Amino acid sequence: MCWPCSINITIRSNKNAKHVNKKIKKYVTASPYLDMEIPILDDISLPKSGRLFVNFLKELNFKNKKVLDVGTGYYGYLAQHAKKFGANYVLAVDINTRAIKKARTLNKSGNIHFSVSDVYSKILKRGKFNIVLSNPPQLPSRNNNRIHDFGGYYGLDVIKKIIDGFKFVSTKNGVLCLLVFDYLLTSIKILCKENALSCDIIGHYNKNVRKGGETEKKIKFIEKIYTKYKFKKNNGSYAHKVYILKIKKYENNNKSSCCNLK
Ligand SMILES: C[S@@+](CC[C@H](N)C(=O)[O-])C[C@H]1O[C@@H](n2cnc3c(N)ncnc32)[C@H](O)[C@@H]1O
Repeated sequence: MCWPCSINITIRSNKNAKHVNKKIKKYVTASPYLDMEIPILDDISLPKSGRLFVNFLKELNFKNKKVLDVGTGYYGYLAQHAKKFGANYVLAVDINTRAIKKARTLNKSGNIHFSVSDVYSKILKRGKFNIVLSNPPQLPSRNNNRIHDFGGYYGLDVIKKIIDGFKFVSTKNGVLCLLVFDYLLTSIKILCKENALSCDIIGHYNKNVRKGGETEKKIKFIEKIYTKYKFKKNNGSYAHKVYILKIKKYENNNKSSCCNLK
């Protein structure tokens, strides 16, 4: 069965519902791995890339691992999957206080710890993590008024913090699993190399750019600052690749495996 194409959408249209909560548009089944329905709110975006990310996450071994989800969002989405896949301790952080409050209320079982933190700033006393997950904001933008999507002028602000600080928050064999857009790959390879980290691509998928969405608005700007990069055209709409990276400290000083993909 193809997922998420097969996603099961339940629209709860009750005549009186509009008066009860105008903001809720519909509920969707959040994931084939979780018993979770999430309300889609006008002002909160559905974790689209996060939903594709989990298909690759299930390949990692979470059994009894201590996991950190950076930028967990309103649904604590990746954190909930880490728990489901066997992690014994999960900490989910986000810079957005509203997102953390909402994620806490959705996670009724209380088996995930939530904290407001600018990447690792508030978690350094929580010990080291075996796995760090992140689907960070990474759209280049002249302003930073959408922390959900925008990652500073080059799109790299949050990613740089995650990669630079990884060695301080991870165990010896710790793994950083990061979702990144293709136009950032070369810069990310360099960041990994500077931090003595290996970087392997463990998966990728093609993403069509949504008409009228934030990425479409930034296409010209992205092609201007990443001069060697061009968005692909796919059946009349723009598309780009999304990579899932597995980043680790170099083993035995072997520095040869840093993101070999051209
Ligand atoms: C693309 S969303 C990912 C949401 C969710 N993890 C998912 O996969 O669907 C990026 C998230 O990172 C959060 N964020 C942005 N800047 C951050 C920072 N400096 N530290 C922690 N979280 C941050 C945003 O608030 C947002 O929730």
